Amino acid sequence: MSEGKGREAFPSVLRLSFSPVVLLPEVLRYGVVDSTNRLAREIREDGRVFWAEMQTAGRGRRGTRWESAPSLGLWFSVSLFGPAEGLMQIGALSVYRVLCAEGFAARMKWPNDVYVEGKKICGVLVEHRRGWNALGIGVNVNHTVEDFPPELREHATSLRRISGRAWDRTRLLEGILQDLDLRLKEWREGALSTLMDEWVAALGLVGKTVRIGGAEGVVVSVEGDGTLVLRTERGTQRIPMPFLE
Ligand code: BTN
Repeated sequence: MSEGKGREAFPSVLRLSFSPVVLLPEVLRYGVVDSTNRLAREIREDGRVFWAEMQTAGRGRRGTRWESAPSLGLWFSVSLFGPAEGLMQIGALSVYRVLCAEGFAARMKWPNDVYVEGKKICGVLVEHRRGWNALGIGVNVNHTVEDFPPELREHATSLRRISGRAWDRTRLLEGILQDLDLRLKEWREGALSTLMDEWVAALGLVGKTVRIGGAEGVVVSVEGDGTLVLRTERGTQRIPMPFLE
């Protein structure tokens, strides 16, 4: 089986157990790929989900590498036509909600990570090119501590590390996709500001003191585009969302 950039083996199909509105009902499931975001960027099919057991060049934000160990996590991307605004927050919100529903004390961390017990459990990367988006989501699921490289063990966690048991990744993926599909439907219907209100509420930052990018102050509000508005000793300061690709 030849695998890698553009040479991945033919995918199998996971048919979703619910009827999606925006997503396509057949998820393409690959063995080894370089990056599901690369697939979603290149095979442009609105609503198509690309899921891989393993990524050899998983992409994180700001050009970082995303550790995508074989068969331990959920590494998937959705190809979507339209503007990029709000997609990253929508992706993070769906994972956050599903983890909360499964009993985890999940937290959203500005701008778009999901944390449990002070460690990162999920990252979201949106790449936008000429009207098309790759919404990529990585969730650490069945990793033990030893499954993470030593330098990540302090900073990353998994559902298994927290709960002490293994999780059915297909069931989890379906839960996340079901929530995502509902949100994407709202997004397509123009309900972006409602979705952003939900995201701001989930962030839970308003009224908290934060230190960020050299500034320290109380968060007065989070604007629709993700900008943090702080009350600092030197007056009001606005911290824009960092560059996210
Ligand atoms: C981050 O840096 O927090 C974002 C990580 C995003 C990782 C996911 S895994 C599935 C998809 N494919 C990629 O190459 N990256 C995203």
